[in-house]
This record gives sequence, structure tokens and C-alpha cells, in this order.
Amino acid sequence: MAHFEGIAFDQALIDGRAVAEVVRAQVAIDVGEFRSEFGRAPGLGTLLVGDDPASATYIRMKHRACEEVGIASIHRTLPADATQEDVERVTHELVADDAVDGVLVQVPLPAGLDPEPVILAVPPTKDVDGFHPWNLGAIASTLDGIASCTPQGVMTLLDAYDVPLVGAEAVVVGRSRTVGMPMAMLLLQRNATVTVTHHLTRDLAKATREADVLIVAAGVPGLITADMVKPGAVVVDIGTTHTPDGLRGDVLFDDVAKVARLVSPVPGGVGPMTIATLLQSTLKLAQARARARA
Ligand code: GUN
Repeated sequence: MAHFEGIAFDQALIDGRAVAEVVRAQVAIDVGEFRSEFGRAPGLGTLLVGDDPASATYIRMKHRACEEVGIASIHRTLPADATQEDVERVTHELVADDAVDGVLVQVPLPAGLDPEPVILAVPPTKDVDGFHPWNLGAIASTLDGIASCTPQGVMTLLDAYDVPLVGAEAVVVGRSRTVGMPMAMLLLQRNATVTVTHHLTRDLAKATREADVLIVAAGVPGLITADMVKPGAVVVDIGTTHTPDGLRGDVLFDDVAKVARLVSPVPGGVGPMTIATLLQSTLKLAQARARARA
């Protein structure tokens, strides 16, 4: 892709920070154009429920990233003992706010709260996470929708490294609605031959060894070892588990780097792309809303 030509890529490493920087710089330019055309900044509304430190950190990083590119952010918080009603009410308030183009309710919600009605409370036109069934349906068809930030960010990474997808054997480990499932649909959209595995898959290694492109989103640190990877494969690690030794991915990086052509590290691989994609998606929703009104 032309706008990634300036990056001198390390041969074996998928450098998410470098690609994310390019994406963010482009979003900053596009936000500037949006502001001069429509006289306002795109706006991201977020809701954080409870006091999970990792979620609080992610939300802070999202706000800082918004600020850097000129996107306004409106942040609401609720205590861990908030009721289902509280969460849905604040979500509706963010949706109703005219300055908000995209609404993000940080998940997981504290135990006892049901995310489903909250996801449905955000209409597809403000669903920056792409969690609404309409948006999932849109990426499963030819409609233009918002894809969940992490899988969309992986697609941007694969394109930045010119990874061939047409006809390629792509194996996705994990089928969550927010990552694995949309990941599989995005790869299918690009004409890869997609296999989706999950925790009940009988022989995971048999499936992963077939992969030209292996995308891992299981949340099990060190799950993927070198013997599970086809020599020359491209391996993308979406796993992020907070352990006493720090953030750990699902791929045993040093081991797998010896057989893979390309592998993404944790941290510094997919993580930065998730936030860069959130900025792109917020801008995309803002543009769609502004144009619908013009
Ligand atoms: N928690 C971890 N990643 C995400 C994300 O992309 N969106 C939301 N809403 N919550 C998350």
C-alpha cells in the first residue's frame, strides 16, 4: 500500500506501532478536513463501568489517541455496583448526544451486568465498535459497515505487509463475536480460505499447521508453539493476557519467529492498531452522519 512505503520494515517482525503511526497521521489530516468542512470535531463517547485497572488504562489510551488527532472525547464512568438500568441509561445518553459520533462501552462489563442489551442500545450509525448485529451482518455481506476495531486493524497490518490473501489458507484461533468471528468474515471477504477453530476444536495443531496466515485470538498465553506453525507462515497474535510477568500474547514469539516469515509481537503488534482503527472508525461514522445531514 502506497502510504506505507516510507516504513523500513524489519524482515520478520510485524511492527504495529509503525503502521499505527502512519494510520494516525492520516486520520489527523482527515480530521482537519472534517473540521473545516463541518465546523466541528468528530466525537467519541465512552463509558467505563467499574474499576478494572486494565480497562481504565485502555480507556485513557483511547482518549489520549483521540486528543492527538483532534477527535473530541466525552467520557462517562459508573461505579462497579452500577445497575443494568444505569448502564443502559448512560449509554442512551451518549447515543443521544449530538456531539457524539461513535459510542464505545468498554467490555467486559463487571460481573452481573448483561452486555447484550447495552450492545443493542447503540444504533449501527453510532456503533464504533462494530458490535451491533447489523454491523456484523454488514461485514458478512457486501454492505458498508463498521468492523470491530481489532480485526479491522489486523487487516490493515496484513495489507501494510502485502500479505497475499486471495486463495490463502487462513486459520483463525478463537471465534468471539468481537474478534474471531469478524476476523474470519473479513478474511473471507478478501477471498482467503478460512478455517475457524475454538476451544472445542479436536486437533488445533493439525489446523494451525495448514495456515499460510494464522491469526490467534484465544487469550491463552503461549498457546501457539513453533511446531504448530507452517514454515514461512504469517502469524498475527491478538492475545493479550496480563500476567505477573507483564503482558503476554498467545504466540510463543521467540520460538515461532524461527519458523514464521512474519510474526507480530505482544506488545507492539496488534494493540496499537486497535486504537488507530478506533480513530478511523470514529471519523468514518462522523463523516457518514455529517453527509447524511448535508
Ligand atoms: N475491551 C477490549 N477491547 C475492546 C474494544 O475494542 N472495544 C470495547 N468496547 N471494549 C474493549
